[in-house]
Amino acid sequence: MFTDPLTELETRFHEAMVRAFGDELPDNATAAIAPSRNPKFGDFQANAAMALGKRLGKPPRDVATAIVDALEVDDIVDPPEIAGPGFINLRLKSAALHASLDSLDGDALGIEAPERRETVVVDLCGVNLAKQMHVGHIRASVIGDALARLYERLGHEVKRQNHFGDWGLPIGMVTHAVRRLSEAGQVDIPSLSLADLEAIYRDAQLTCAADHKGLAAVRRFGLGPKAEAELEEQVEGASAALAEAKSALVALQSGDEGFVSVWRQIADITLAACFENCRRLQVTVTEEHTAGESTYREELAEVVRDLEGRGIAEESDGALIVRLDAYGIKEPLLLRKSDGGFLYATTDVAAVRRRVQDMGGDRLVYAVDARQSLHFSQVFAASRKAGYTKHQDGSEAELFHAHFGTILGSDNKPFKTRSGDNVKLSDLLDEAIRRAELAVGEKNPSLAPDERQRVAEAVGIGAIKYADLSSDRIKDYVFDYDRVIAFEGNTGPYLQYALVRVLSIFRKAEDEFGITMESIADRGAFNIEAPEEKAMALQLLKYPGVVGSAAAAYEPHRLCGYLYELASAFSSFFDACPVLRASSEAARDARLRLCRLTGRVLRDGLSVLGIEPLERM
Ligand code: ARG
Repeated sequence: MFTDPLTELETRFHEAMVRAFGDELPDNATAAIAPSRNPKFGDFQANAAMALGKRLGKPPRDVATAIVDALEVDDIVDPPEIAGPGFINLRLKSAALHASLDSLDGDALGIEAPERRETVVVDLCGVNLAKQMHVGHIRASVIGDALARLYERLGHEVKRQNHFGDWGLPIGMVTHAVRRLSEAGQVDIPSLSLADLEAIYRDAQLTCAADHKGLAAVRRFGLGPKAEAELEEQVEGASAALAEAKSALVALQSGDEGFVSVWRQIADITLAACFENCRRLQVTVTEEHTAGESTYREELAEVVRDLEGRGIAEESDGALIVRLDAYGIKEPLLLRKSDGGFLYATTDVAAVRRRVQDMGGDRLVYAVDARQSLHFSQVFAASRKAGYTKHQDGSEAELFHAHFGTILGSDNKPFKTRSGDNVKLSDLLDEAIRRAELAVGEKNPSLAPDERQRVAEAVGIGAIKYADLSSDRIKDYVFDYDRVIAFEGNTGPYLQYALVRVLSIFRKAEDEFGITMESIADRGAFNIEAPEEKAMALQLLKYPGVVGSAAAAYEPHRLCGYLYELASAFSSFFDACPVLRASSEAARDARLRLCRLTGRVLRDGLSVLGIEPLERM
């Protein structure tokens, strides 16, 4: 089983500290091992003695000596040296480093099957009926998909859920409007584009009346900007249209065939466009991952009855609410409005129940905008209160809102077109590919046009995705085409290019020496000598740990940062250490072996992020 030397040293140090200090050792004491600041002093330093000395009231150097005396690390490092106030300097033994690299270079790249295989349900994408995908949906799709891939890579069972917004009053509006236009012979539904539908939807919203009561309730209960915005949007219309839309919704909800058929066609058009965007984005969301809000319609009444029956929900001003004070949330969750209607939150409570109890979810992750934070904290707390997060064996599912910030334009305001409209996702991708094609053409004029087009697609899409994944998830970030498509810096193209360089070394190695990435595994033993080789080796060994911690923290940007450092280390190595022109065959083969492992990790890491690895660019 693979363990990187750093983790192993942490364990051995802790054991030594227990031996040296017994009961005196504070519970949270760690070896505090970090990479050495200066390679002259070794590869790592253990900084435990300073903090521990303070806690125990002993001189840190004495503490360091006591630890070193109790250490059993001969197989990993040279005899440790104590320096300065009590640093313990550690130099890896070559044999240990080489053995670790060998073990990492196995099939699994050091990522072993998990002790317990979890079912992880990832909520992603979340498009709405009759609406086009715009930049805002990139994050929900790309981050959600990367989280799904991280858990898949760790060996868990992942179920993606596209919580398609296809139910509720707005849906009644658009269905009613489309049906009317179709009956008047003004539109032919099957030939409508999603853009047409969106325009009809806008019009319908404008002509519909204001739900003042709903808005007041949302404000009174402080149900958050999402709910408020939804209602404010409709407060801007007139009242007869609203009544019609309401009766359309009732008809739809009671299964009226005419309405259902129109609704279904609108849903098909919306989803076809959504799936096409996801395909281009290389985000795994298809029909099988889509569970619209409408699929919960039967469960809603059941959930509400259950919560009411068990006294978990209570009446307030004719509405039904779930109080969450015990969970530190003062705003109750509104389960049913006084007019009997259910809400977005009702559906999400039913979704938690389904995802835990029917789908067996041990972990539910929601890649959804930060503006829905209150919504999810309410949904999670209400579901807990209801016991919907419990499995049959009594274990609790883990619920996490992987919320994210907004994509901003260069003016630091939400990214819009020049005329102030939302940027359509497909337009953004087209533009990225167009620019990538120019950049790729400049970088490598020898690519044939069709290959250039293919590469440009992978580079353009990869660049957009990487920009989204590499910035801290919870922060807003400023989007700039030139920066994200650059071949230098912490960008997708830079990482794709690092892999291309590795592969091109092997193309030459095969031409000149008949050595391939596969055959080198048998003939080239690791032999780390130069500092640049060592830096790269130590970086490689972190890979399994980084994948694990990126998943555990729901932070794909940790993996991005890691891969960027690896690519930079590779670049320094490549500048300093000749590979094919190394001083001996043995040295050449050892370096090729290191290149192979770097290539494998880069390829694996990119695919975990959902970014296409390229052979050439
Ligand atoms: N359709 C929702 C929206 O546009 C996003 C859905 C997120 N997922 C969820 N389970 N609520 O805001």
